[in-house]
Amino acid sequence: MLKNKVAVVTGGSRGIGKAVVEVLSDNGVKVVACSKSGRGFVHEFPNLIFKKCDVRCYSSVTKLVDFTADIFGGVDILINNAGVVHRGGVEDLTIDQWNEVISTNLSGAFYCSKAVMPHLRVRGGGHIVNMSSRSAVVGFPGGAAYNASKFGLNGFTEALFLDAAPQNIKVTTIMPGRVATDFGDERPDSWQISPEDVANVVVESLLVGAAAAISKVEIRHSKTR
Ligand SMILES: NC(=O)c1ccc[n+]([C@@H]2O[C@H](COP(=O)([O-])OP(=O)(O)OC[C@H]3O[C@@H](n4cnc5c(N)ncnc54)[C@H](OP(=O)(O)O)[C@@H]3O)[C@@H](O)[C@H]2O)c1
Repeated sequence: MLKNKVAVVTGGSRGIGKAVVEVLSDNGVKVVACSKSGRGFVHEFPNLIFKKCDVRCYSSVTKLVDFTADIFGGVDILINNAGVVHRGGVEDLTIDQWNEVISTNLSGAFYCSKAVMPHLRVRGGGHIVNMSSRSAVVGFPGGAAYNASKFGLNGFTEALFLDAAPQNIKVTTIMPGRVATDFGDERPDSWQISPEDVANVVVESLLVGAAAAISKVEIRHSKTR
């Protein structure tokens, strides 16, 4: 049962994060959703609050997590979803682009997990879901920064799974193929996985019984383009 659980969703203003926020809210979860810019925050309900937070900044992350615990009385679930992509070979990528991808996709997940774990422990356990990618297992040309961030995120998640298990905290990695969002310079298309499908998988991973943990889910396209 997810009703009245409390979740933090990073990158919850659009794309996959927005779909996750909506499915969690439909399941009665109290949600604090963040994004870097605050753009696209359209609706606020008593049990759904949007906050600006830059996951690249640890003090911004601790403020978000402490705010959530104060307003909803605790935290049970963290969805590390915020992400960016810059495509380019090693010679073309700028230092700023490399740093933005690594600090958002990898360090951001570490910062949010680090900030939320004491709160999960107080509740007797919880669940962290990391939005990884098929690009965590398959490289692509121009993927130097993005592949590095997502391969790194999978490595981080493997270790976190083992560290968190004794504290009754489950950890799940979701690895979708191309999802129909405005991620980077891509545009949604009908052959792509829907954000709602990814969000439903997130919720299914949260609902599995106490003795089981969904550690990894790969979501591939059912058709070729
Ligand atoms: N779309 C795909 O094909 C695909 C496939 C596999 C995995 N993924 C992963 O799924 C996640 C979501 O992707 P998406 O397609 O939904 O992307 P999206 O539509 O571009 O949304 C990205 C979200 O992340 C937020 N964000 C970016 N940098 C942030 C930061 N430093 N701090 C806080 N929030 C930040 C954005 O907020 P602002 O609007 O304020 O920037 C936005 O809410 C990413 O981790 C991505 O790597 C995507």
